[in-house]
Amino acid sequence: MKENIKNIPTYSVKQLLTTNIEIDKVVCIKGWVRNKRDSKAGISFLSVTDGSYFIPIQVVAENTLSNYTTEILSITKDCSVVVVGRVVKSLGKNQSIEIIANTVDVIGFVENPDTYPVSQKRHTVEYLREVGHLRVRTNLISSVVRVRNTVCFAIHEYLNNNGFYWIHTPIITATDAEGAGEMFRVTSLDLNHLPKNQEGQINFKKDFFGKESFLTVSGQLNLEAYCLAMSKVYTFGPTFRAENSNTTRHLAEFWMVEPEIAFANLMDNAALAEDLIRYVAKMVLDKNLEDIKFFDEFVSNGVLLRLENLATQKFAMLTYTEAIDKLLHSNKQFANPVSWGIDLSSEHERWLCEEYTKTTTIVVDYPKDIKAFYMRLNDDGKTVSAMDILAPGIGEIVGGSAREERYDMLLKRMHEMNMSSEHLYWYLDLRKFGSVPHAGFGIGLERLVSYITGVQNIRDVIPFPRASGLINF
Ligand code: 4AD
Ligand code: MG
Repeated sequence: MKENIKNIPTYSVKQLLTTNIEIDKVVCIKGWVRNKRDSKAGISFLSVTDGSYFIPIQVVAENTLSNYTTEILSITKDCSVVVVGRVVKSLGKNQSIEIIANTVDVIGFVENPDTYPVSQKRHTVEYLREVGHLRVRTNLISSVVRVRNTVCFAIHEYLNNNGFYWIHTPIITATDAEGAGEMFRVTSLDLNHLPKNQEGQINFKKDFFGKESFLTVSGQLNLEAYCLAMSKVYTFGPTFRAENSNTTRHLAEFWMVEPEIAFANLMDNAALAEDLIRYVAKMVLDKNLEDIKFFDEFVSNGVLLRLENLATQKFAMLTYTEAIDKLLHSNKQFANPVSWGIDLSSEHERWLCEEYTKTTTIVVDYPKDIKAFYMRLNDDGKTVSAMDILAPGIGEIVGGSAREERYDMLLKRMHEMNMSSEHLYWYLDLRKFGSVPHAGFGIGLERLVSYITGVQNIRDVIPFPRASGLINF
């Protein structure tokens, strides 16, 4: 780096464009050139971005600069530069200020710009997934990253402001929390020489933990233990499911935030989920309006209005039984037939919130037979105190329930479902030692980000997606 820039303050593009920087101040910016235009009059206009803000800063480089013909004219998209220059009022419509360069140092050129994988032209999301290490250099993915960051920050902030403790539940576990059998195995056994027991089965006593172990599908069960002493807790981290569903809504590795509250029922739970999501929506509107405007224009028309509604309007609520009734009377031919007792599929969920309520919708009281063992049985003996939150364009974004806090009822349910009560003795213990009604839910982070941004496939809202057959980068 040249000597003379040492004492010049460096600003991020966001600082330059969103705070009142003095006109005529000499500043330094460091970033990548998104776009360049050379005028016949010997002036080049560089749009420089550093990822901090949706809008790039315009740098004006004149042919009086010593490296104008040797370097500046050769700059192509995504060359890295350090610019020192003077802040001036911009004559352009879209920006308040620009920089008249004193120096433009090219730090790294882009080799073979003609074959550069993320060149200037618009690329499809499918293509961008094939260049996962470079796709964040597009407006689409960098905007997603900024929004995703805000969503996570807002979740932590909301929960912290409301007295929740963040509990770091384990990622490696011996328990299938959801009982759906979709776990990835964790082992240190030599797969070519598996130890066998007398019955000829794999001897997991010889495995690292002395028993079968897996990547967790949910931190909930561990979280409940902490809830029943700390009252308001949450876990937020990666979760793993070996679901073979090749859809726009499923990942093998996804992030989930799971709050859990003591002395609470399903309605307290639903109110918390709604308030939290509203808070997130408000913060995204506040911090990422430029990104959302971009999504609204180029990705999904109407997503800005949808987000404004999410930040202000009440969610709809109906019972599963009402939902089935509405679906039966919808006059729509669904691929999956509707009857009481079915698990709602995404087409049903989407019809309910897109055509029937036309808003974010909480469905409660599902049949016990399609839900997890830990959900609290309702007095009707048929349904459980469960909730899913359905979002237009996606379907389920949240799943939760009141927990079965009654020891006998929980034990009975586990037996009905052929689950080992021995293995989960510790979970049952919680019902013996000062049990209280409690409830919680999980928000799929990628589904929420997909809803907020209108980016349809959740593979495009996580930095490096992992799904069946997909583990590049
Ligand atoms: O409905 P789920 O399975 O609920 C639980 O895991 C509970 N233990 C949560 C709780 O009560 N604490 O998953 C919760 C949410 C879903 O609503 C969905 O948004 C998301 O996690 N999700 C997935 N997201 C991406 N890919 C997958 N394969 C997902 N599976 C669930
Ligand atoms: Mg669910």
